[in-house]
Amino acid sequence: MIQINDIIAQLEQLHQGAKEAIATVESLEKLEDLRINYLGKKGQVSKILGTMGKLSPEERPKVGAIANTIKQGIQTNLDKKRSNLQAIQIAAQLKSETLDVSMPGVYRSQGKIHPLNGLIDRALDIFVGLGYTISTGPEMENDYYNFEALNTPPDHPARDMQDTFYLSDGNLMRTHTSSVQIRYMEKHEPPIRVIAPGRVYRRDTVDATHAAVFHQIELLAVDEGLRFSDLKGTIKEFLRQMFGDLPIRFRPSYFPFTEPSAEVDLEWNGKWLEVLGCGMVDPNVLQEVGYDPEKYTGFAAGFGVERFAMVLHQIDDIRRVYASDLRFLQQF
Ligand code: DAH
Repeated sequence: MIQINDIIAQLEQLHQGAKEAIATVESLEKLEDLRINYLGKKGQVSKILGTMGKLSPEERPKVGAIANTIKQGIQTNLDKKRSNLQAIQIAAQLKSETLDVSMPGVYRSQGKIHPLNGLIDRALDIFVGLGYTISTGPEMENDYYNFEALNTPPDHPARDMQDTFYLSDGNLMRTHTSSVQIRYMEKHEPPIRVIAPGRVYRRDTVDATHAAVFHQIELLAVDEGLRFSDLKGTIKEFLRQMFGDLPIRFRPSYFPFTEPSAEVDLEWNGKWLEVLGCGMVDPNVLQEVGYDPEKYTGFAAGFGVERFAMVLHQIDDIRRVYASDLRFLQQF
C-alpha cells in the first residue's frame, strides 16, 4: 500500500538530488539533459506523480501542490544555472576573441630597389626628359659588335684597354655597352637619340674601384649638324641633374670609335674621379652601319654606373655594392 508520506519523501529527495546535480553541472548541454531527466514528460517527477493514482482523492491535491512547488523549485534552479553558464560562456568567448589594437604588428621587412638599379632608373629618367629612347642589347656578343664595327680591328692596340672574357664558341662577353650603338644604328635611321643601360664584363683584377662585372649606360646621338658643343652641353646637363653642381672637367682622351674623344671627371672628396668616356662618333663607325658621314655627325658616351653610385652615395669600395649585405643595402 503506497503511503502519501512515501511519495512526498520521494519528491523531496528528488528535489534535493536535482539541486545538487544542477549546482555541479558545467555545460549548457548537460544542464538540458538534467532538465529532461527531472522535468521532462517521462522524467523523474512525472514518474513519481504516476504513482499518485493509488492515493485517495483527498490526498492527491496535497501531493499535487507539493509536486508543483518542487517542479517550480527545480525550474528556478535550472533557469538560474542556465543564465549563469551563458554568462560564463559569453565571457570566455569575449576573452578569446579580444583584439588588442595596441599590440605591435608582425614585422615584415620591406624590399627596396638596389642602389645601382635606382641610379640607372634616375639616369634613364633624365635622358628620357631630354628626348632619348631606351634600348638594350645582348650581354653575350660577337667580335663584330663589340670591336670591329666600333673601328677596332683585330690587331688594334686599343683591344688591350679592355681585357675580354672570350667564350669557347668564339663569342665573348661584351666589354662595354658600345656594342648597342651598332645594333641600334643597323635598325634605325637618323636622327637618333638613344640610351642603353646594361651589364658589361672585364677580366680586371677586382679591387676597390674595379669589378669583373659592372654596369654602363651608353648614349648615342646621330643627326645632321651635331657638334662637340652639343655633346658637352648634354653631358653637363645630365651631370648637373644627377649630382648637382659638383666641379667637372673634360679631359682629352682616346677611344677607337670616337674622334675627338674625351673623358669626364667629377671632383669628389678632393679627387678627380673618372665617370665617363665620350666623343664624336668616328666617321668609320657611321660608314660601317651605312650612314653617310658627310651628311651625319654623332656623339656618344659611356657611363660607369658603379662610379656614379660611389660618388652619389659616398661609397668607398665598389665590392660593397655586390656583397648583398643588408646592413649596407638598407642605407639606401
Ligand atoms: N666604351 C667605353 C668604355 O667602356 C666608354 C665609351 C667611351 C663609350 C667613349 C662611348 C664613347 O660611347 O663615346 O671604356
